[in-house]
Amino acid sequence: MNQELFNRIKTLRQPLLDIAHKHGTPIYVYDAQEVCRSYDEFTSKFKEAGESVEVFFAMKSNPCRQLLKTVVEQGGGLDASSNRELTLALEAGAKKIIYTGPAKKEGDFELILDHADRITVNLETERELTLLAGMAKKRKVKIRCGLRIITKSQSGWTKFGLPLNQLREFYDKAMNYPAIDFCGIHFHISFNINPDNYVKTLKDIYDYCSKNFSQAELAAFKYLDIGGGIYPVQTWEGLYPWNADLELAACPKGTVEKIMNDEFQPRFIPMTINPIEKFTRTIAGAIKDHIRPVLPNVKIYIEPGRYISQNSLHILLSLTDKKSNNMGILDGGNNMIGWEKYQNFWYAPVFNLTNFSVEKEIPFLLYGSLCTPDDIWGYYVYCSNMQEGDILCLPYQGAYTYTLAQEFIREIPIVVNMSDI
Ligand SMILES: Cc1ncc(COP(=O)(O)O)c(C=O)c1O
Repeated sequence: MNQELFNRIKTLRQPLLDIAHKHGTPIYVYDAQEVCRSYDEFTSKFKEAGESVEVFFAMKSNPCRQLLKTVVEQGGGLDASSNRELTLALEAGAKKIIYTGPAKKEGDFELILDHADRITVNLETERELTLLAGMAKKRKVKIRCGLRIITKSQSGWTKFGLPLNQLREFYDKAMNYPAIDFCGIHFHISFNINPDNYVKTLKDIYDYCSKNFSQAELAAFKYLDIGGGIYPVQTWEGLYPWNADLELAACPKGTVEKIMNDEFQPRFIPMTINPIEKFTRTIAGAIKDHIRPVLPNVKIYIEPGRYISQNSLHILLSLTDKKSNNMGILDGGNNMIGWEKYQNFWYAPVFNLTNFSVEKEIPFLLYGSLCTPDDIWGYYVYCSNMQEGDILCLPYQGAYTYTLAQEFIREIPIVVNMSDI
């Protein structure tokens, strides 16, 4: 286990205990310092690699208001995917917004056109283009747009956008609408542990554009939006050995018994993810080689989600009932994260902040408080001891958790700031 994490947890321990005592548990704790650190690391690594990117934080990974505000204060834009997210982005004061997502309808475009001066729309279909063009014309507004494209590197994500080989035809149609300022190309690839698929897609764009557009047309493109999908390196999280291919939606029979007998060694399998420098250098190199020769004037937009939100929240819970030496019930349920993330898919370390230890991790079945057995926070705890009333923490769990929280049986707890002691 990672020494750096242990040092960080030691520093976090007292403030988190103070928060738990002041506000109670279950609770999410928002850590603005971590968001600034991730944001700064992300942008500065691209700069060091010779490419300055405009960041549009993907709100879907965590739309917590405090987080949106921090990103905006750092100078970032927001990537919204629905009216709900756009409303939150506007409330957060975002000056630059990208609207990306399928099945946009009249209601979406109404709100987009109300704020056309700060929104760029990544279109997905000709239906969207025609609808938006008509609505914008009626309002006498010009709206900035691009097309989301897919190539073979977006396999499995074919519900989005249009194949790259339809870009020319789409472009010609868009040029017929004076209310549409068609000037961008967008793609997105999720779950990248290395930069290979970005390079392949950028090369495909080069090949297609150089054959299908004139130099003057290409010079008029203003942005290339390369989406999100860069995994942050996770040295203290990983896959459960019994579900390393992430395919099982439930533990096979007998798994819990094996875990409690400590039969799984190692207890988790870390993911091998390339460091951010590898992504930034390789992507910057591919932009230089494949994009600048064909799209000389584009700004590079990027939509990181989990890279920015991963460390933004710590989850605090307490042990309500200790039912045996290796099983107990916590006061929060997995409605706080909206899925069986820690039950079936991901190991994340749990620390007992009250009876604290970074030396000893014991098997302990951590049930949540929902009236269903499918509510497990994890199977191990770092602790010196487990007692009723102990405060437990899952640190750095901000990506695709809070955003999926739901009022299932219990309410969604509040988010407090790290500084709110
Ligand atoms: C269009 C788009 N942009 C950005 C993201 C953020 O991806 P990630 O959180 O992996 O960076 C997603 C996630 O699905 C997405 O669909």
